[in-house]
Amino acid sequence: MLHGKTIVLGVTGGIAAYKAVELLRLLTKAGAELHIILTRSAQEFVTPLTFQTLSRNPVHTDLFNLISEQEIGHISLADRADLFLIAPATANVIGKLANGIADDLLTTTVMATRAPVLLAPAMNMNMYHNPLYLENEARLRRHGYLFVDAVKGALACGWEGEGKLQTPEVIFQEAVKALTLPDLAGARILITAGPTREEIDPVRYLSNHSSGKMGYAIARAAWRRGARVTLISGPTALAPPWGVEMVPVESAHQMYEAVMARVGECDVVIKAAAVADYRPLLRAEEKLKKQGEAMTLELVKNRDILTELGHQKGERLLLVGFAAETSELLTNARKKLAAKNLDLLVANDVTQEGAGFSVDTNIVRLLHRDGRIEEPGLLTKEAVANLILDRVAELQRVKEACHGTIGAEAGRAV
Ligand code: PMT
Repeated sequence: MLHGKTIVLGVTGGIAAYKAVELLRLLTKAGAELHIILTRSAQEFVTPLTFQTLSRNPVHTDLFNLISEQEIGHISLADRADLFLIAPATANVIGKLANGIADDLLTTTVMATRAPVLLAPAMNMNMYHNPLYLENEARLRRHGYLFVDAVKGALACGWEGEGKLQTPEVIFQEAVKALTLPDLAGARILITAGPTREEIDPVRYLSNHSSGKMGYAIARAAWRRGARVTLISGPTALAPPWGVEMVPVESAHQMYEAVMARVGECDVVIKAAAVADYRPLLRAEEKLKKQGEAMTLELVKNRDILTELGHQKGERLLLVGFAAETSELLTNARKKLAAKNLDLLVANDVTQEGAGFSVDTNIVRLLHRDGRIEEPGLLTKEAVANLILDRVAELQRVKEACHGTIGAEAGRAV
């Protein structure tokens, strides 16, 4: 995910400095090259050796040692960075940066970089709400510095309140976003994911094998690319993706209601959910008792959400459907593309190894309205998600050329 990216991680002196170790681990695991700068006070909390061992690079602590190198050390670090990340960032370092003070290696290097700078503050709650701190933060935001807001929690000083460092996982997600081209900025994307459950009685239901992985991967990727994302999800074991509005539902009817209530505020709908086509005619109030050797369950048809969207969509809405097939993949997929009036259809043969339900990969065909079919082969669900979003961005650009609004915020290249 971050292969080929160079991140300079600055660690300043706060009790949360130990969490930078976990952050470093997440970033290196994702393939990034890490260079670490520890301030003098950070070294009171953590040692350079830990960071050196995990980053496999020398840790930088001293401005003047680096100047004796062949190239000027802090300038070289500043130039090499694709992202400058400071976690935890104390009120002191934020104050210095906001006021152009460059009196140590970290602040000097940040002043010299042209890379995006992402700051994760951590401090006492009274400091976090101090008007001087707030002015410094606002000033840096105005100059394009990015922030991962501190959260509420028990603080090292004994207070309970805002000022606690965000979790390493969330800082990691924000770092990935900061390194991603925001080509979907301004787009409002609604995604459905997971299975639905159609209740038979209080203890039983009809469902399918969808894990939600495909839809959640699209939601994560769309958020990273700058979209405002709503994820309507049937029951899954997955954690809600960071930055995404989550709407949990159970049944196909609930998913229908949730989609219809929000579609008016969306530019794009991507329906990766495996929605039950039928539900039991009657839901028993009490657990059904065992009876004879056989039992018949009468089912009635659920409304097809995608078909209804396809029929009511005007020029503005872009509609992407999925087709889960077990035979005649392309024949069935072509029929769905036409019958549901879609802009793009993602077809997968769920009997193929590495495709469909629960696995981390998928083998899809992308069917376009003009008859083109793309066959990218076996990919991770994250790569499939980005491929679908590449096509969505292209279709958006065509629509934007006609309507002139969508993606207006896009264009910040990193
Ligand atoms: O969740 P995972 O474990 O990662 O698995 C991924 C997946 C296999 C679920 C996904 O890749 C996929 O194929 N999703 C669509 C599953 C499906 O329901 O396909 P379908 O061919 O039955 O439906 C066609 C389209 O109509 C789908 O976009 C579906 O969301 C939509 N639909 C179907 C029925 C209905 N009542 N309303 C709908 O909107």
